[in-house]
Amino acid sequence: MKFLSLSTLLLLPYTLSFSLPPPSSISTPITSTSLSLHPPRDPSETLTSTEFNQYVQTTYGRYPLTISHGEGCTLTDTEGKTYLDFVAGIATCCLGHSNPSLTSAVSTQMSKLHHVSNLYYIPSQGMLAEWLVKNSCGDKVFFCNSGAEANEGAIKLARKHAISKGATDPVVLTAVNSFHGRTLGALSATQQPKYHKGFTYGGKMVQGFKPVKYNDVSDLEKQFRKYNRTPFKDWVRGRKRRVAAIMLEPLQGEGGITPGDKEYFLRARSLCDATGALMICDEVQVGMGRSGTLWGYQNISPTFTPDVFTTAKALGGGVPIGAMIAGGKASTVLGPGEHATTYGGNPLACAAGLAVAKELSGGVLENVKSRGEELKGGLEGIKGKYGDMVEDVRGWGLLMGLELKEPNMAGDVVGRCMKKGLLLVPAGLRVVRFVPPLIVKKEEIEEAVRIFGEVMEDIKEEGMGK
Ligand SMILES: Cc1ncc(COP(=O)(O)O)c(C=O)c1O
Repeated sequence: MKFLSLSTLLLLPYTLSFSLPPPSSISTPITSTSLSLHPPRDPSETLTSTEFNQYVQTTYGRYPLTISHGEGCTLTDTEGKTYLDFVAGIATCCLGHSNPSLTSAVSTQMSKLHHVSNLYYIPSQGMLAEWLVKNSCGDKVFFCNSGAEANEGAIKLARKHAISKGATDPVVLTAVNSFHGRTLGALSATQQPKYHKGFTYGGKMVQGFKPVKYNDVSDLEKQFRKYNRTPFKDWVRGRKRRVAAIMLEPLQGEGGITPGDKEYFLRARSLCDATGALMICDEVQVGMGRSGTLWGYQNISPTFTPDVFTTAKALGGGVPIGAMIAGGKASTVLGPGEHATTYGGNPLACAAGLAVAKELSGGVLENVKSRGEELKGGLEGIKGKYGDMVEDVRGWGLLMGLELKEPNMAGDVVGRCMKKGLLLVPAGLRVVRFVPPLIVKKEEIEEAVRIFGEVMEDIKEEGMGK
């Protein structure tokens, strides 16, 4: 028998633990210096982009631009150059920048009480919920912090609703080219495989989401039939697959500014009515007045209503807040302890939401309609003039897209507009998106169209449009 030497025995625990380092290298010894923190910089100091990239993860591709301040639809960079903002924090700063009502509401609330837990009553949360309910088809609101989180809430609600009726495998149908957010559930609902790459388990995303073609009634019917029954191999094991919900954006934003068809949405509604599945609308980008009506679903048809819809972005005018609103039978599905989030509907966020609600109730929607028509008219004029470069102009209200014929060209056009003082954002590789603050003025629409036209002319002269 071979004996192990003392030194080998001493090493054994580490050898057996494969690559685990010895404990001394895991725990940092507490020294007097670890209690004295590196102080933060004063925000008035400058920070180079190199320093920024040293400390911030590179999850965003950023333009070489640092905005210092803004007012209305104008942003000013740190060099003093001004820009016409047709991005609005990606359809978020609905009241523009430095809006006096929003500023005053948030500052007043901040100096009084900015956060308490949902263990207690928060009157402004109740008031914002009341405004949302009285101006929609919903009955009750759950507040959260972002669009993805609002969608997570809607998905959980749909699953619970289907499971309470006996389903074991609740399927949520979502549309090809949709975008619902970056958390794992919302990302799995997002039917754009490019966003899934690198985030799968066993090659799969979170299960329970199936794709349907957007605006294609026969595919919707086919997928609904397929996923509303249980495959035999699962049925014999006692499982029951049902469509728990159809979840759609009334207008696909990130997917390329594609408005939903009335016939398609009404068919989705009737399939839900016939089976008890829930109709969910993702209003995160199109909602809160951007389409010209308060909610995108109202643009589909006056007779179309979802059971559940989600909102975020413009709800706080740039202060983070999201909401999941449910109506009728759906509004009581989630009970105490079944869903929660620490910041959801805190006094600060709800003060912002109420300020936005007040402004939207005071005539902003009329502005969206008029300015939206002017923007559409201007972009159609550009399409008429540069028909060899422009494929399509589409959208609702102040959520407009101009599709270029050349693939991958949207980023280049956005960069050129930026140099000329107009901020835009692509929606996919060939669509340029126009989402100014909802308080944009007629002259600002004209200026944006003028700059965009100049850029198209430059490209034409360089022969890139051929
Ligand atoms: C339709 C839609 N849903 C959800 C989201 C995700 O929202 P958030 O980034 O606030 O999580 C977005 C964001 O662009 C969106 O456009």
